Amino acid sequence: MIPLSRFVSPQLKLLHRGKVRDSFRASPDTRLMVATDRLSAFDQVLDTAIPAKGAVLSGLSAWWFERTRDIVPNHFIRLVDPAVSLIRECRPLAVEVVVRAHLAGSMWRAYQAGRRSFCGVSVPDGLTRHQAFPEPIVTPTTKSDHDEEASPAELVAAGLVTPEQWKALEQAARKLFAAGAATLAERGLKLCDTKYEFGIFDEEIVLIDEIHTPDSSRIWPADAFARDPQRVESLDKEYVRAWLLEAGQGGRRPRALPPEVAAETTRRYLELFERVTGVSLALSDEDPRERMVRHLAAQGFMKDAWVAVVMGSPGDLAHARRIRDALAPYGVAVDMRVLSAHKNGEALPALAELYGGSADRGVVVAVAGLSNGLGGALAANLPVPVLSCPPFTDLADLQVNLASSMMLPSEVPAGTILSPSNAAHLALRCLQLPRLKDRLALEIGAVKDRLAARDQEVRAAERLP
Ligand SMILES: Nc1ncnc2c1ncn2[C@@H]1O[C@H](COP(=O)(O)OP(=O)(O)OP(=O)(O)O)[C@@H](O)[C@H]1O
Ligand SMILES: [Mg+2]
Repeated sequence: MIPLSRFVSPQLKLLHRGKVRDSFRASPDTRLMVATDRLSAFDQVLDTAIPAKGAVLSGLSAWWFERTRDIVPNHFIRLVDPAVSLIRECRPLAVEVVVRAHLAGSMWRAYQAGRRSFCGVSVPDGLTRHQAFPEPIVTPTTKSDHDEEASPAELVAAGLVTPEQWKALEQAARKLFAAGAATLAERGLKLCDTKYEFGIFDEEIVLIDEIHTPDSSRIWPADAFARDPQRVESLDKEYVRAWLLEAGQGGRRPRALPPEVAAETTRRYLELFERVTGVSLALSDEDPRERMVRHLAAQGFMKDAWVAVVMGSPGDLAHARRIRDALAPYGVAVDMRVLSAHKNGEALPALAELYGGSADRGVVVAVAGLSNGLGGALAANLPVPVLSCPPFTDLADLQVNLASSMMLPSEVPAGTILSPSNAAHLALRCLQLPRLKDRLALEIGAVKDRLAARDQEVRAAERLP
């Protein structure tokens, strides 16, 4: 299985790249949230992504969102792909509402160090690791660069929520937690703790982000807890954390996982999905980027491919528009931008990331004359086809532009093509879209038919046999 580390496309406006999820604008009041396979442990994102993790997390959230709507409305609209959720755009409240049924994690560490008061809640002496509280406690944190614990009064004083809002959040969080814990209990699982995020939509409080996933919760097997409550391990990342601790030397933890550890982590995530939902998550071996593009394109969020027309100066716009217009009938996305290889070449790495790293197929057409450094600079940096289509005013101008477009150093594979419409058609052919093959073949046939008809007309007019 192939993991997805990040989702990149010039067709979608990026709103946020978080530790785990990449969010894009879908419409003014909706966004696409792509759960990548990135895994963060000990507060850092590992270099190794875990195949299927994003699909497991998205699928679990979707499952819980559907089943908790009656408790509190949420942002979830539907899954567009196993790892992509369409959600309502909300105004997030900068608060994480943490609910804990047991003394674990950072709270246990603080408790051991002698703390007894947490976010305005006092806990008694003499508790042991993972011990259950008489009833779940709510320990909110602020949501900022450094999430900080805060009492409800502090949250209100900081202007993050109104007292009424806090009351509603706490009530909703408690109900969600009770429902989640009950459902998991039926499956032999224990919800130790979790965190919820809320936002405002249409002046209403809605649950956002994710719910009861292994990234937002600690979930224990109930039997292991019963056997040895102090040593029970949560079902997801604990395995990775343990491996990292063991493999770390001199306090330096590895940032990458060996393939077998990644594969075992995938297995555990899939197992958890099946245990909670009762069905297994059937994922093909297809590259998740291709799968996502297919789903996003089929549902109208993007086209299946793009052509980017990069101009050396705004003066090239008319020429660039001819290329765009020639592409219009074929249903591919057209991106346009101005970038001078000579004057702002420092913008190239970002472009290499966007075009070169895109999940969807694409071709770049460089439109620059005089001294065309653009086509070569793009071809040298982007692992996608680059065509130079230099504009020219007369044949002398053409000579200059041609030389600078075509005389390229080694490992700079830019092609040169003169007519904007031919550039558009070559770009289409480079894309090799199965859906266009027949259409392009028909167009070739139509040219032949037209020529044959002209031939007949000429021969008839000249009275040839
Ligand atoms: N419905 C929504 N409307 C607006 N924002 C949302 C919605 N649901 C989730 N978010 C925000 O989208 C982001 C999800 O990405 P992710 O969880 O990967 O980021 P994060 O790691 O929490 O963020 P950061 O890296 O900034 O700490 C969060 O900032 C979350 O608050
Ligand atoms: Mg988050």
